[in-house]
Amino acid sequence: MTEITDELVIRGNHIKNRIVMPPMVTFSFRGDNGSYYGKQHIEHYTKRAIGGAGLIIVQATSVFGAVDSTGMWSTGDIAALKQIVSNCHAYGATIMLQLHCGNMNINEFSTEEIHSMQRNMKQAALRACEKGFDGVEYHFAHGFTLCKFLDASYNRRTDQYGGDALNRARVLTQILPDIRNNTHKNFIVGVRMGEYLPESKDGIEAARAFEKAGIDLLHISFGMEPPANPVPEGFICSPMTYSGCKIKKEVNIPVIAVNEIRKEEQVRFLIENDYVDLVAVGRGMLADPEFANHVINSEPVNTCAGCKRCFWFTDHTLCPARSEE
Ligand SMILES: Cc1cc2nc3c(=O)[nH]c(=O)nc-3n(C[C@H](O)[C@H](O)[C@H](O)COP(=O)(O)O)c2cc1C
Repeated sequence: MTEITDELVIRGNHIKNRIVMPPMVTFSFRGDNGSYYGKQHIEHYTKRAIGGAGLIIVQATSVFGAVDSTGMWSTGDIAALKQIVSNCHAYGATIMLQLHCGNMNINEFSTEEIHSMQRNMKQAALRACEKGFDGVEYHFAHGFTLCKFLDASYNRRTDQYGGDALNRARVLTQILPDIRNNTHKNFIVGVRMGEYLPESKDGIEAARAFEKAGIDLLHISFGMEPPANPVPEGFICSPMTYSGCKIKKEVNIPVIAVNEIRKEEQVRFLIENDYVDLVAVGRGMLADPEFANHVINSEPVNTCAGCKRCFWFTDHTLCPARSEE
């Protein structure tokens, strides 16, 4: 039986347990001197590393120099991100950065615009590697630009970036060899995506296309829309979490499941029954930075209050479950 404290080795990185902090933007945090990342982010991620998370995936960070999104270009951003990496490493967490391509209409992109985005996607991975991150996760979920490539009904392109799953995944798989050639051998390249794109078979085909191309890790959330599929009797987590379990059966690379996992019982259920390799706990870990240690030690968890729209997006000080941040 797999234990939640069993390590998982991905590309030579020893992830010390099976509990992941998924990417979560915190727009009320501010960097110093106009940078996006700063002291608040450093404290935020360091606390979750102290709290026992085995893998931390730092929030969506734009690959473009967009002004309205967290980026990684200014001296302040670079210094803060480096500090986040070294603090998380010091507490034994593996750390990745989520890379995001905004929310654009991919059907209107010229080929040159796609190539330009791919250059930015690659450069961002290289910068993350230079800053010491153990890997990157490309954000192919939640209806954003990269998700639109993967969705078989949204993507109406007739060139090599539209059509079958191999084509729809090409925006990343085409640049993967170049990323590999310019990063060290242990650098993880992962993908966050959904299962329903728009049918389950489309998500399965996309997952297999990524696996075939050499992607190391899949993180299954949702695609254009959250799923409403039924879960089998006795499955004690959400339909979205079940999506992760379904993809896990179809590929031989590690899979993370996520969504509304709040209780020790659910974490153990998913890992001990080998439904998935890793379990991500988002709002649960915002409410309780020590979530991982509490679950590992079977101690009470400070539970997320389940607000309709999480206050951490806009003003974390309003979170009713928040402790001191
Ligand atoms: C405040 C907040 C910010 C989020 N930001 C991101 C993000 O940057 N990238 C992403 O892929 N998902 C983001 N998400 C989604 C989470 O990673 C996670 O999938 C979602 O909250 C469901 O998991 P949970 O029920 O454990 O919170 C965010 C969620 C919250 C609550």
